[in-house]
Amino acid sequence: MKIALGTDHAGIRLKEDIIKLITDLGHEVEDLSCNCETSVDYPDYALPVCEKVISGEVDRGILICGTGIGMSIAANKVPGIRCALTHDVFSAKATREHNDSNVLAMGERVVGPGLAAEIVTAWLTTDFSQGERHIGRVSKIKAIEDRYLKV
Ligand code: RB5
Repeated sequence: MKIALGTDHAGIRLKEDIIKLITDLGHEVEDLSCNCETSVDYPDYALPVCEKVISGEVDRGILICGTGIGMSIAANKVPGIRCALTHDVFSAKATREHNDSNVLAMGERVVGPGLAAEIVTAWLTTDFSQGERHIGRVSKIKAIEDRYLKV
């Protein structure tokens, strides 16, 4: 798969580890992160990653900020993005199986590098279950977008 990665200044310490991990798992990374520790605005890094996912230029996106919260809120404003803020391995698997999440958000101030690596590995190696009830629920998310997120 091709994965777009975006971090703000509060997520860049995890960045190189995550790039190496994704590459070691056999995927390609497009790094759209900031390159400095001076303060930047996380929506400016969430949006380009999400646009690449929506356009199909990449298969999935990973966003990292201090908490993961700002990135996930911003990402979920983009129609078609299902961003999962995830800080444990169980949720990383479950959000792929149940929600078909196409973007993962994490907080560098919340998880250490070891757990972050396990989360990313679980998220990248778990498929959507294709279960009828999960497909129906994801369709209902789309219906909410169609109603409230006007382009
Ligand atoms: C930056 O200080 C911090 O607010 C940001 O990285 C993120 O945690 C916001 O949700």
